[in-house]
Amino acid sequence: MNTVPAQHARVLSGMRPTGRLHLGHYHGVLKNWIELQHEYECFFFVADWHALTTHYEDPTLIPESVWEMVIDWLAAGVNQTAANLFIQSQVQEHAELHLLLSMITPLGWLERVPSYKDQQEKLKERDLATYGFLGYPLLQAADILIYKAGLVPVGEDQVAHVELTREIARRFNHLYGREPGFEEKAEQARKKMGKKNARMFDRLRRAYQEQGDDEALKVARALLETQQNITVGDRERLFGYLEGGGRVILPEPQPLLTRASKMPGLDGQKMSKSYGNTIALRDDPATVEKALRTMPTDTQRVRRTDPGDPERCPVWKFHEIYSDDNVKDWVQEGCRTAGIGCLDCKQPVIDAVLEELRPIQARAAELEQQPEMVRNIINEGNETARDLARDTLDEVRHAMSLNYR
Ligand code: TRP
Ligand code: SF4
Repeated sequence: MNTVPAQHARVLSGMRPTGRLHLGHYHGVLKNWIELQHEYECFFFVADWHALTTHYEDPTLIPESVWEMVIDWLAAGVNQTAANLFIQSQVQEHAELHLLLSMITPLGWLERVPSYKDQQEKLKERDLATYGFLGYPLLQAADILIYKAGLVPVGEDQVAHVELTREIARRFNHLYGREPGFEEKAEQARKKMGKKNARMFDRLRRAYQEQGDDEALKVARALLETQQNITVGDRERLFGYLEGGGRVILPEPQPLLTRASKMPGLDGQKMSKSYGNTIALRDDPATVEKALRTMPTDTQRVRRTDPGDPERCPVWKFHEIYSDDNVKDWVQEGCRTAGIGCLDCKQPVIDAVLEELRPIQARAAELEQQPEMVRNIINEGNETARDLARDTLDEVRHAMSLNYR
């Protein structure tokens, strides 16, 4: 398999600009990024073109969401010196790679991506029978391949997109590159031609590759045509070897599955903006405290004197994230015996959430005062990304015979 060894892997992930982030994003994605940034070379980007694939009718909110999200990344501890942060649409090379890959992508591959039909069903109020929406997983493939990323941290719902990316890379390499171990295989094939021919091939190959001797190339090709003792595969290999082909141009990435966030929403369902059950990273402490105080508890615990069951209570899910064993024992015992009231029970959660948010909010407040700095961080990230993207694109253009210089 043409995958990148994990220890050298570059990590890449994107997030759609959805505005201010909440605790679900923090526990589900950002904490993971923050760990990865110290272990790998990381690229994290704002997927604003991806947002357009579903929100093309009302794009005006996207830019605001972009900056709010970047501030939250930084406030949460994503660090611009440890990771490259950039905006997708500011690195236009993604678009050219998307176009070039579209030439070799069978329509069926895109139609079969599960999110295609799922999202169309889910977002019925939007017309998603568009070219952009169908092609969106391919745009994601371009996002990944343009950095030759080895590892892509994603949630379960995105694994199919990384799998598609692998198929695209394989197809690209098959069409325009060569398999791994290619050099050795080509060398073996060369030897199968017999000593004399093998030596002649070697001389001609060098004359072509080192001196650009076109005549040598012609003679070597003719030599290959006349060989009776080698297989078709070996002959194809030697043709590639002769011209200096044989590289894996686009390595296949691996998904780095992010464990589903256990962060519950205020109603016990998954925390999500569409459920209206979130605590935003920048909600002020009074709002956070009020939200937690008024969140539902075990509905069968109507009066203070009724015993309850934490298993039926959303507050318990918060304790599972924020409380140590002592507090958890205190909750279990106190709830089941009506020894504690629900407000008592919520207090350690309120304290823990406020404590978690305090440093994040302090950093966010500083960043809000320095929009220029935030813009500079992104500008630098854009440039670093562009440099790498340009290199890959040069190789790709070359592989696809679009080298006019
Ligand atoms: N499609 C992803 C999402 O909706 C975002 C994304 C775009 C992405 N390009 C990517 C994630 C590349 C990982 C790698 O969440
Ligand atoms: Fe929920 Fe705690 Fe009240 Fe029990 S005591 S119902 S766990 S809030």
